[in-house]
Amino acid sequence: MQLMKDLILSYNELAGKSVTVGGWIRTVRDSKNFGFIELNDGTTFKNVQIVFDESLSNFKEVAKYPISTSLIITGELVLTPQAKQPFEIKATEIVIEGTSDADYPLQKKRHTLEYLRTIAHLRPRSNTFSAAFRVRSVAAFAIHRFFQEKGFVYAHTPIITGSDAEGAGEMFRVTTLELGNPPRTESGAIDFSEDFFGKETNLTVSGQLEAEIFAQAFRNTYTFGPTFRAENSNTARHAAEFWMIEPEMAFTDINGNMEIAEEMIKYIIQYVMEQCPEEIAFFNERIDTGLLERLTNVVNSDFARVTYTEAVELLEKADVKFEFPVSWGLDLQTEHERYLTEKIFKKPVFVVNYPKEIKAFYMRLNEDGKTVAAMDLLVPGVGEIIGGSQREERFDNLVQRIKDMNLNVEDYWWYLELRKYGTTRHAGYGLGFERILMYLTGITNIRDVIPFPRTVKTAEF
Ligand code: 4AD
Ligand code: MG
Repeated sequence: MQLMKDLILSYNELAGKSVTVGGWIRTVRDSKNFGFIELNDGTTFKNVQIVFDESLSNFKEVAKYPISTSLIITGELVLTPQAKQPFEIKATEIVIEGTSDADYPLQKKRHTLEYLRTIAHLRPRSNTFSAAFRVRSVAAFAIHRFFQEKGFVYAHTPIITGSDAEGAGEMFRVTTLELGNPPRTESGAIDFSEDFFGKETNLTVSGQLEAEIFAQAFRNTYTFGPTFRAENSNTARHAAEFWMIEPEMAFTDINGNMEIAEEMIKYIIQYVMEQCPEEIAFFNERIDTGLLERLTNVVNSDFARVTYTEAVELLEKADVKFEFPVSWGLDLQTEHERYLTEKIFKKPVFVVNYPKEIKAFYMRLNEDGKTVAAMDLLVPGVGEIIGGSQREERFDNLVQRIKDMNLNVEDYWWYLELRKYGTTRHAGYGLGFERILMYLTGITNIRDVIPFPRTVKTAEF
């Protein structure tokens, strides 16, 4: 059996030859003595047109097969230079692989994304999700390719962990406790200190701290895996389970960090545009008419750079009224981030050097004693897609920061030891995989770039 993607690549050589394909009916229509099937086998975004006629013994049944019936079809590949599609298959045999009930929920009409979310087991067969999840797969490969070509070592960091990488306490607890009969403290509360074979554990919020271990051994490393946040943010940009790409580089500062981040974003966009032209054209037509132009511009222009202090000044002068206040020391909200990147810079922008109070404990303190070498990348339409920093490599400073943030120094003993045995300047960042997929597709809800989203109130599958 041939794959449709291969037929599309080499139909000229196959002209006049017999081919066999398997796939699902997208549409079928017939007139008196012949008919057409649009068949899709999932190996390409495109359908292949099948022509069938009375010469088939089962002609009458075929014409009545419902959408989504799975078929195996043998026939002659015929070039059709005058038609929209370059070739079709003239069936000599159509064998049914599996029938489909007539109430198949994806009939040929446009469904809303909200409706499709309720049928996560079927939506990968729709055009939008076929395109979204193929782009997801290709983008993941592009990311591995980018880092592997540069010699970065891929580190598998733990999912179950005893440390809070962000120090923000937004973690899901992992427990082996028998909840019907849990151990209790003297006051009667559940004793969680014993929950994972005698250790408190959580699902990881970030692989960064372990990536830093690898950076101090391999110099350049990256993680790419699922991360979990127990923040109760019911927004179109937050998921409780999402994937993050986290490179970490020794002997690198915040400028080197920005350079690699910019190169990576451009590489991913370019690779996906080359490998998924039909999918991107589809999104450009159906989801976001400015997409193609925007992606092309991003690949060809330099990202803007601005300090947090400058960004706050720009926002204070803005001609719009924000819902949340802007002033030095407060964190930037999504509305501020989007204003900066969409209205002021009109392209991706790095914001650097945030006040230390609003950033994580591991970020390197700047000379001014007030800001840290943090770096966020904001993009139009999405807002923050990358958060990163140069790391605090100085032992004493790091201990002080951990204490200042009211964290427990003992919990970070191994992280601190990295600063005792040949510490180096180092930097890294986290790219939210779903955020860049939103950017690549124009899809505005994170639930629609994740096959099985885990967001507030959704965990059906
Ligand atoms: O800015 P964040 O929290 O940074 C870190 O976790 C660092 N440890 C990364 C590092 O330096 N190695 O998260 C990084 C990125 C964000 O910019 C955003 O794109 C994404 O992860 N992200 C989320 N994506 C979807 N849903 C959520 N709840 C997200 N939280 C963060
Ligand atoms: Mg962040």
